[in-house]
Amino acid sequence: MQRKKVEHYEISTYGGLAQLAETLGLNEIKELLGSTLEEEKETDEKLSAIAENSVNYEAAEEPEAL
Ligand SMILES: [Fe+2]
Repeated sequence: MQRKKVEHYEISTYGGLAQLAETLGLNEIKELLGSTLEEEKETDEKLSAIAENSVNYEAAEEPEAL
């Protein structure tokens, strides 16, 4: 959970900086920041999948209630 929080900060930061670079007409920098932003989004999705699988695994391991 903490790791996803960090990813969300990164997504917010890179998104804001990419927007600023676009506003300033710094297109090459905007593209670089945009690439990093996409990587952060992909990492966030992977972490979500890991968390989901972990929850499902733990649920499957729980004894059934009577
Ligand atoms: Fe990250």
